[in-house]
Amino acid sequence: MAIQWFPGHMTRAKRQIQDKLKLIDIAIELLDARVPLSSRNPMVDDILQNKPRLIVLNKSDLADPKTTEKWMAYFAHEGHECVAVDSQTGTRVGDIPAKAKEILHEKIAKQIAKGMNPRAVRGLIVGIPNVGKSTLINRLAGRNIAATGDKPGVTKGQQWIKVGTEMELLDTPGILWPKFEDQLVGYRLAMTGAIREQILNVDDIAFFAVRELADRYWPALQERYELEKQPSDPEDSEEIVRVMEDIGRKRGCLMGGGRVDLEKASGIILRDLRAGKLGRITLEAPYDDMPVRER
Ligand code: G4P
Repeated sequence: MAIQWFPGHMTRAKRQIQDKLKLIDIAIELLDARVPLSSRNPMVDDILQNKPRLIVLNKSDLADPKTTEKWMAYFAHEGHECVAVDSQTGTRVGDIPAKAKEILHEKIAKQIAKGMNPRAVRGLIVGIPNVGKSTLINRLAGRNIAATGDKPGVTKGQQWIKVGTEMELLDTPGILWPKFEDQLVGYRLAMTGAIREQILNVDDIAFFAVRELADRYWPALQERYELEKQPSDPEDSEEIVRVMEDIGRKRGCLMGGGRVDLEKASGIILRDLRAGKLGRITLEAPYDDMPVRER
């Protein structure tokens, strides 16, 4: 995945979504439950304007359930309904049509009051690449509809997909761009696999991952790699590299002279993290823009 988001591309993506907004009743904003802020498009409010919105925290199977609850409360406080789902297995995906109807209840009640037979609620899924849009569409449709890995700027004939009897979805999702300006956001997206290693260096991503995990999820890291000493200061780069070397030694990533192959160790750490082998991990909590040490 190496989508280049040039300014012209963003403008086109924005226009494409705004064209689709005219066709729908509700936007379904898909975020990664492990990094709800970093996986959020910086202009989403501007793009979706006043369209009713449901926030869906996807990949909740990989996220820390307690922090997911905090995020749901946070979004509710922001005035948005929110559900947490796992699109891969379908857990709680069935809540989406019901929530959408709940959000649109006034509109539906007005239609009924006018003697109209309310039609199915029409929705559009929007989100950054790799957040799981195609997986969710396929899951809601109950069959393989959306080609995964679709590219922004590619238009094709649009179709409505029936989700039960009460909801219809546009078959092509709205593809939004991630935030670029903040380096931490880039690393967090890379840790979750949303940005591939071709863009950021694998050792750098793993370094960031170990630093965050050593601070917040030390027991998980310690147990997985049988580590001994928690770094006393996660801001101390040398201590973090020592933990990475320890992991490399435990996993047999050695080069000549007994030196640790950090790149190989980094690959293992990232694969384990992304596959949930370190447990359910969330990398950001609401209201925490504090330095690592003070969280
Ligand atoms: P996109 O359309 O937004 O670009 O994302 P897409 O559906 O292609 O999903 C990106 C990756 O995230 C896929 O994995 C997909 O299986 C995975 N995924 C989507 N939803 C969930 C979820 O709720 N939980 C988990 N654990 N994973 C999810 P991939 O490695 O790219 O492909 P594959 O291994 O599934 O073939």
